[in-house]
Amino acid sequence: MESTVKIGTMISGGGSNLQAIIDASLAGELDVSISFTGSDTPGVKGLERARSASIDTFVVDYADIIRRFKANPDSVELPEDFDLDQIKSKQQLFDDAAPDDVVAPFLKSRAIAERMLLDEMAKFDMDLLILAGFMRVLTPYFIDRINTQPGQYRIMNIHPALLPAFPGTDGYGDTFRYGCRVGGCTVHFIDYGEDTGPIIGQRAFPIEEGDTLEDVKRKGLEQEWQLYPECIQKIASRFITARQG
Ligand code: GRF
Repeated sequence: MESTVKIGTMISGGGSNLQAIIDASLAGELDVSISFTGSDTPGVKGLERARSASIDTFVVDYADIIRRFKANPDSVELPEDFDLDQIKSKQQLFDDAAPDDVVAPFLKSRAIAERMLLDEMAKFDMDLLILAGFMRVLTPYFIDRINTQPGQYRIMNIHPALLPAFPGTDGYGDTFRYGCRVGGCTVHFIDYGEDTGPIIGQRAFPIEEGDTLEDVKRKGLEQEWQLYPECIQKIASRFITARQG
């Protein structure tokens, strides 16, 4: 019986959460093996961290794909199995009032990039996909091709705020500017919305008088590095139990 859970990891930048996961895994705290690290941005430090730990890496350059799509939508091929109406009806990233000339190009360009991600990931074994500072939303095109078993979430994310407060890209900034006295981070599963999926774990920290945004980010990251490995282990052990059952 396979006793480890295969995890794929996705990053966009520094990869300090990835490092925490690598370290916890090397310390024997996680029943996982890391199959790959993918990035939406070339040349980021997280890729170096992965390579130093002998983890296979790949890049799908989102910025380049989006740039080429915007310049000429016909120059980049849509996936053969892409169904715009179906993806539009499932997605919860935009509300119903959002104009189609915004929503359709967004979903199309992301599906082109997501197809490339799926093709890269298909080269590896993967039970769980761990977003560790991956700064792109995922559309139902991608999510449905990972969550292939009904009711089973397989994509985890870490968010720099106490969800459901402050979804979006700048959780610590939003927490700080609001004047909160407590900040935090959340590990959750990915669903069709932005930072809306079921919560797996959270950690909070005090924001003291005089703390700067940098202090908030530092305190938050320190919590993230503990929370994410713990949550990964929680879900990995569920996978192992289910296999044995
Ligand atoms: C973290 O704060 C994470 O919560 C957010 O992006 C940041 C990534 O940091 N999604 P790192 O790349 O893991 O250092």
